[in-house]
Amino acid sequence: MVEAMNAALDVTNVSFSYGRARVLRDVSFNAEPGEIITVIGPNGAGKSTLLNVIARSHKLRRGTVSVMGKDTKAMRQVQVVKSGCVLVPEGRQVFATLSVEANLQLGGYTRRRDFKRLVDEVYGYFPRLLERRDQLAGTLSGGEQQMLAVGRAYMSEPSVMLLDEPSLGLSPQMTAQVMAVLGKLRRDRGLTIVLVEQNAHAALGLADRGYVLSGGEFLLEGSAEELRANPMIQHIYLGGGASSTPVAPTIEAKLNDELSE
Ligand SMILES: Nc1ncnc2c1ncn2[C@@H]1O[C@H](COP(=O)(O)OP(=O)(O)OP(=O)(O)O)[C@@H](O)[C@H]1O
Ligand SMILES: [Mg+2]
Repeated sequence: MVEAMNAALDVTNVSFSYGRARVLRDVSFNAEPGEIITVIGPNGAGKSTLLNVIARSHKLRRGTVSVMGKDTKAMRQVQVVKSGCVLVPEGRQVFATLSVEANLQLGGYTRRRDFKRLVDEVYGYFPRLLERRDQLAGTLSGGEQQMLAVGRAYMSEPSVMLLDEPSLGLSPQMTAQVMAVLGKLRRDRGLTIVLVEQNAHAALGLADRGYVLSGGEFLLEGSAEELRANPMIQHIYLGGGASSTPVAPTIEAKLNDELSE
């Protein structure tokens, strides 16, 4: 594939099992530099497992993962981070008993010399974190913790950022704020983003392309517009059920605001 040669992230035929339970089956996808990809799917589809295998929180046993053209097969987690790929894990997982700034410092452990510049960049994107730099992370609101989780990942100066359900538990307004910053990171830094979400509205409002994961396999793939128009997606994710939140228009409005500043 020609595309794959320029891909920031290239995942080919990745399979994964917990014991005997096969959770991912021959999953392949790629993302071009600066592209925002979303993977949507129901609970238990394998979304977190996929990100954990890419980031090497789980072992990569079958298939290949390349970051910026480099095969990561032999790499451990820290080497994957150094190669430019970082995970913002599900549930944020900030260090609750450490300050905001200490969390950022830990996120920058592979870029210690650039700490000052990177931390200032994070505070530029998230002024709220600057106001709360000495506050213990465990006392931040959910939305602020998500900002911190994104900021901490940014401290490794990644080319590719993987985000596992950043909208979980956030209000539509807070979700829109976080998504808007992701849009800015792509615009300013050419960051490539893989966004795993159950909130299809939020994800498809930001992403260029998306994949639908179910039972460990991709069922559908398409541009964000195609997926939004797809009857199955509309029925399951956008059909006005209890979990659907009309956040996409808010994100677009936010992004337009930010971009016209
Ligand atoms: N450590 C584990 N040991 C055994 N099975 C696991 C483990 N982690 C996840 N699973 C199983 O693997 C499947 C996929 O889980 P995964 O967490 O990847 O799904 P998900 O798509 O992220 O779901 P959610 O939307 O609820 O976060 C589920 O059936 C889950 O029960
Ligand atoms: Mg998950």
